[in-house]
Amino acid sequence: MIEATVPLSRIEEMVRTCRACALGSLRTNAVPGEGNAEAEVMFVGEAPGYYEDQAGRPFVGQAGKLLDDLLARAGLSRLDVFIANVLKCRPPGNRDPLPGEMDACSAHLNAQVDAIDPRVIVTLGRYSMQRFLPGSTISRVHGQRFERDGRIVVPMYHPAAALHQGSLRAVIEADFAKLPEYMRTPVKAPEPAPQPAEQGRLF
Ligand code: URA
Repeated sequence: MIEATVPLSRIEEMVRTCRACALGSLRTNAVPGEGNAEAEVMFVGEAPGYYEDQAGRPFVGQAGKLLDDLLARAGLSRLDVFIANVLKCRPPGNRDPLPGEMDACSAHLNAQVDAIDPRVIVTLGRYSMQRFLPGSTISRVHGQRFERDGRIVVPMYHPAAALHQGSLRAVIEADFAKLPEYMRTPVKAPEPAPQPAEQGRLF
């Protein structure tokens, strides 16, 4: 069955009315994500915090200011990229996302990736990284380039981590500085699928 890509405006509407998990009844505003619908680079954070929940927009607090600086280092602005989160609603007290919440929200993120079709996905923080590179350890893989499903996936530390742990600031800056090069490098063509042996044919 061929599934049609859902337009971003429809995904946004679905997110804003979603009640698939308990967070739907706790939010002030859902935070679907925003940016360039044809972005080559998509950033995926963890979940809205207090300010994002108030504004209905991603990364508008302190971590967002740092993200803006980091984007500028890579020669990018919010107008060039799309910014989303694994969870579209704020967990109470900014606690970590629960597995059931991530499962409930996963169709929204999948639909956004399909609609935007970015060449590069930058994961911000561990929860986003686990979504695209399960089993990875951020301290080992941050800033490296991986290929998954015909896209480049680059795991990065969460900007909030650099705000809490000053020594990570230089690490995140160095990782963001690699982005322009990753954006230039082609994604390898997928290996052709092995053809099933022709039945009943003798050589
Ligand atoms: N942290 C996130 O992961 N996402 C936001 O939108 C804001 C802070």
